Amino acid sequence: MVEQSVRRTKPLGELIRRKEGSRLTRTLGSLDLVALGIGAIIGTGIFVVTGVAAAQYAGPGLVVSFVLAGIAAGLAALVYAELASAIPIAGSAYTYSYAALGEFVAWIVGWNLMLEYMVALGAVAIGWGSYFTDMMRSVGFTLPRALVASPAEGGIVNLPGVLVTFLIAYLVFRGTKQSASVNRVIVFIKLAVILLFIILGIKYVNPANWRPFLPFGPSGIVQGAAIIFFAYIGFDAVATAAEETKKPQRDLPIGIIGSLAISTILYIGVTLVLTGLVPYSQLNTASPVATALLRVGIPFAGLIVSIGALAGISSVLVVMLYAQSRIFFAMARDGLLPPVFARVHPKYKTPYFSILIAGGVVALTAGFLPISIVAQLANIGTLTAFIITAVGVLILRKKRPDLPRPFKTPGTPVTPLVSIAVSLFLILNLPPLTWIRFAVWMAIGLIIYFVYSYRHSKLNVKEQSFNLRALVMAPVAKPIPERETTFVDPNDEKPFKVTPARKDKDS
Ligand code: ALA
Repeated sequence: MVEQSVRRTKPLGELIRRKEGSRLTRTLGSLDLVALGIGAIIGTGIFVVTGVAAAQYAGPGLVVSFVLAGIAAGLAALVYAELASAIPIAGSAYTYSYAALGEFVAWIVGWNLMLEYMVALGAVAIGWGSYFTDMMRSVGFTLPRALVASPAEGGIVNLPGVLVTFLIAYLVFRGTKQSASVNRVIVFIKLAVILLFIILGIKYVNPANWRPFLPFGPSGIVQGAAIIFFAYIGFDAVATAAEETKKPQRDLPIGIIGSLAISTILYIGVTLVLTGLVPYSQLNTASPVATALLRVGIPFAGLIVSIGALAGISSVLVVMLYAQSRIFFAMARDGLLPPVFARVHPKYKTPYFSILIAGGVVALTAGFLPISIVAQLANIGTLTAFIITAVGVLILRKKRPDLPRPFKTPGTPVTPLVSIAVSLFLILNLPPLTWIRFAVWMAIGLIIYFVYSYRHSKLNVKEQSFNLRALVMAPVAKPIPERETTFVDPNDEKPFKVTPARKDKDS
């Protein structure tokens, strides 16, 4: 059985499930997965970042950037889905890397996932704040700039971004998990406002605005793709649902490709209309989609789009804050973060400290930093985590060909290799300042690892080596026990038993 053969992940996965009260059952079909993907993907990227990307990087050629970034996301998701289905437990790429590549690499992935979730959340909350401000303005309340913009943008604090973060953190703390039905309603609203924008806006398009198509040259397209990749972050949510999917081999690719394809088509439509409505150079605003409608004289549509954007972005916030708190939780269970991160609230059964810290960091990010810096940092972290995941898939194929894989990345090893190359290409096209910020982030991560995590790890740290190669090549599994075996997790009150012959019906 998969979970037995991957050292230490089984008890961890079981703990997470037991602590959270339920085992996951296979209830999701391909349509649910498509809806899940759209719920997690479409948000601030299309409603906000599109404006900066068009105005400063790609011009109207941003449509091509969206296709390129969508391909990068699709390849990464197909690769990610293999690990998600082979090791179908909570904890995301961090946990898969722990099983496949060892603790050091897992730490790096976990540290990067914090960029994907926590830092991206900052950008998403900033986007929410922009649309909130816009909506208030449409109904006659103009909020003072000092309270709706970061210092770099001429304000003091982005208060709406901070407040929504606290609200979402409270919901996640109370155990709000977006149910499939709520998600469907939100997805419907998102799709409706996007289609409304396209249908209403198309009449006002002035093709002259599409010329020049590439004001920043072909390199602008690639730089635009590296930035707008942000709009696809969240696609891994589909892969993490492997455990709850009825037919992973069939439904996962449909869910992944389907949600990415629908998002890409909508993104292309929005970008074409947006850059056709106003000259690209005027799109550098905090809420470009609503602003463009206001500029061409359809303010009521601007208001509807703002309300829809607020609903849509809120769902992204819930999913991502939930994910971040569970990654903290998983890392603390492994001893890589202080145990307080794994503390579960007695009544709401949620990792309250993790939620508090994640919420605090997101609030600070949203309150005081400009969106483009934050979004780019999130992109580089996400892309790095996915490169490592792709390496993990290749290594596990070699080292553990026997591992049951409910979903196999088609075209391996070519697909993971191309995925690595495309992700790397996008990273190289991010602004050098982003690499520097990323290097600082990684340096802080390494210091924390060697000062705290390495010493507190629940794995027998004496076996560990600082030699990365040795860690990567270390055996990934203990032999499957022939008899019932008892695993004991130091954090758990009761030992946990595994019977090799048992067929796990729902995992
Ligand atoms: N893809 C997510 C968004 O655009 C992060 O809001």
